[in-house]
Amino acid sequence: MIETETPNLLYDSMFMKACRCEPTDYTPIWLMRQAGRYMKEYRDIREKVPFLDLCKNAQLAAEVMITAVERIGVDAAIIFSDILLILQPMGMDLEYIKNEGPVLHNPIRSFDQIRNLREVDPAESLSFVFDVVRSTRAMLQPDIPLIGFAGAPFTVASYMIEGGSSKNYENTKTLMYSEPRAWHDLMSLISSATAKYLNGQVNAGAQALQLFDSWVGCLSPSDYREFVLPYTKSVIDAIVDGTPLIHFGTGTAMLLELMKEAGGQIIGLDFRVELKQAWDRLGQVAVQGNLDPCVLYADYSEIEKRAKHILDQTKGRNGHIFNLGHGILPTMSVDKVAALVDYVHNQSSKL
Ligand code: CP3
Repeated sequence: MIETETPNLLYDSMFMKACRCEPTDYTPIWLMRQAGRYMKEYRDIREKVPFLDLCKNAQLAAEVMITAVERIGVDAAIIFSDILLILQPMGMDLEYIKNEGPVLHNPIRSFDQIRNLREVDPAESLSFVFDVVRSTRAMLQPDIPLIGFAGAPFTVASYMIEGGSSKNYENTKTLMYSEPRAWHDLMSLISSATAKYLNGQVNAGAQALQLFDSWVGCLSPSDYREFVLPYTKSVIDAIVDGTPLIHFGTGTAMLLELMKEAGGQIIGLDFRVELKQAWDRLGQVAVQGNLDPCVLYADYSEIEKRAKHILDQTKGRNGHIFNLGHGILPTMSVDKVAALVDYVHNQSSKL
């Protein structure tokens, strides 16, 4: 019998190959916050639709992401959603306030409040996110992988406790240091919900996952090991076999080895580390990153110079996914973002 191999466009895409540390024809690139206010198409939709409604409208959420992917030419899409949506079914009062960002009106500060939080069954209360995965997958080009995501337990807990963004994380650390039992209960609750939530996204059609531990860089390595690592590890260990997971944080220069220990086939680097040094420390794992987003405010030649500096540091190794070290900002230029994507494709195909 002659075996005919059916090409698997997703499995063989540059992004998925890089996730598996296999050689690629060029360096795949996608950008955190690639769909958002820096795009006029997005702002136009947001004039009519509140952010939470947009996240709950599968058709529109898919359109927003696909418009961005096609406009800037990236190699992967991420679902249009938010890390804080998991908080509503827990019983948190979430609101996105214009020009201020997310606010939780009932922040968690005591053991009693933690006891009153609800366990989340994502299949029931977050099924609209799985609908976003399905409709995005259905509308996306067949060779573009779709990334599902969630906030990592620490970052989600910090929003629950602070009630929004924070500079010093004083309430979070107060709970952690003064009521460790309460902290551990809260982290367990978030972790089990997050694992189910991520697996639900894989079952709905996501090819890869990203875990955002955006604010974990406020912790020392020993606090990370004691208060965070076991929970992040439990989430990652529970992911359906064979689904690559990008483990990302910012301000994590001192935490990278511990993040690798917690898990993830790909470690997301922010822009405060030199890529090569970080990768040498990490050893056998893929990496994603790490251009400073603010480089996009410079002129085209400077953007290219700095993108080249990153690509040059990956010579001789497989498993690099180009990205920014954090998200695109609302005042950035779409043309420059698209030019960065082109440059990375062209330059890396010469290496
Ligand atoms: O990358 C993408 O385009 C996909 C969608 C995406 C959003 N949020 C949409 C969004 C992703 C991957 C996120 C993750 C997220 N959300 C993180 C982790 C990434 C990071 O930046 O570290 C965090 C910390 C959040 C929480 C959050 N959501 C904040 C702090 C804000 C306000 C800040 C801001 O950029 O406005 C949001 C709102 C939000 N999430 C917007 C978008 C497009 C802006 C909403 C709007 O005003 O239209």
